[in-house]
Amino acid sequence: MAKYRIAVLPGDGVGVDVMEAAMIVLDRVGLDAEYIYGDIGWEFWRTEGDPLPERTIELLKKTDACLFGAITSKPKKEAAEELVPELRDKGLVYRSPIVRLRQMFDLYINLRPCKAFKGNPLNYRDDIDLVIFRENTEGLYSGVEFRPVPDEVRTAMENHSPNMKKYRNVPGDELAISCRVFTKKGCERILRAAFDYARRNEKRSVTVVEKPNVIRETSGMMVEIARKIAPEYAPVELWETNVDAMAMWLVKNPYDYDVLVASNMFGDIISDLAAQLVGGLGFASSGNIGDSYGVFEPTHGSAPKYAGQYKVNPTAMILASRLMLDWLGEKEKANAILNAVAEVIAEGRVRTYDMGGTASTLDLANAVAQHIG
Ligand code: IPM
Ligand code: MG
Repeated sequence: MAKYRIAVLPGDGVGVDVMEAAMIVLDRVGLDAEYIYGDIGWEFWRTEGDPLPERTIELLKKTDACLFGAITSKPKKEAAEELVPELRDKGLVYRSPIVRLRQMFDLYINLRPCKAFKGNPLNYRDDIDLVIFRENTEGLYSGVEFRPVPDEVRTAMENHSPNMKKYRNVPGDELAISCRVFTKKGCERILRAAFDYARRNEKRSVTVVEKPNVIRETSGMMVEIARKIAPEYAPVELWETNVDAMAMWLVKNPYDYDVLVASNMFGDIISDLAAQLVGGLGFASSGNIGDSYGVFEPTHGSAPKYAGQYKVNPTAMILASRLMLDWLGEKEKANAILNAVAEVIAEGRVRTYDMGGTASTLDLANAVAQHIG
């Protein structure tokens, strides 16, 4: 029996292309694994009314980790219109499968390294090496939302928050509320994950990216907990920056930062910005990590217009497989992939279109594979 069982969910769009590329590289490092392919994505939404079928959830439960490509998602109304006729008007609501997986498996860390590889013509500046820890299960992604807002909810809010009173005359169907739910546990575990990482990797600082001057209760709680636990991790320093200022500082002085930690939505936004500093989403990988399971994916979406053309840069997916190996404890194999990617980029002979080249998705994967021992 193989040492690991890995669920492979290519999804749709370019998810399929980049997964094929990553598997070329994984085969080359020779991980002792059984790869089990599963269904996820737009096709299953259209034909079964669920982009994340139950059988896929069962598959994940029986595996050690999951590699996930990308899937198309659309706003509520458009999604409902694309259902096969038999499934229409049944009140089915499209919900992002990756967000569901993160919550269902309690994958509370979204680890997003943003490293500028030497020789990448797309680097905003060279030598950027940031790691983002994004809280991955709560905040504005908690799914606690109202539209229209039920009367009981309104009344309860008015009774407890003077600020709610100013909306008294707004009709229920003209009001929408999305709750930003934070828990002490949720804040503490993402902060500790960031600090542990910083200490282990001898990083100077952890920057907590929130907005406590305005969002007093949720951001306030995150910063308060950060201050409380930070001394345990000395000499790692705690820095505090408001999210708007962070966007500016990341463009101005990206080298000043080591590890950033943020709640779900702020982490989402900051991580796209940071990805662009190091070449764009084609280079940005993510690990959705919990205490006993991990789902590893590129940060980019499914780019349907490039689907099946083997055109897009598979580096993000290849680096996601490297994050998986690292998390599984296969450090040597993980480093072999990282070094091979770095070498291929530094050489600059094999480049996909985003880097100004003509190589295909699989050309790049083969080049990386050839650089592995
Ligand atoms: C990401 C993506 C997802 C998110 C989408 C696809 C739901 O933007 O992983 O950053 O918002 O988390
Ligand atoms: Mg995002």
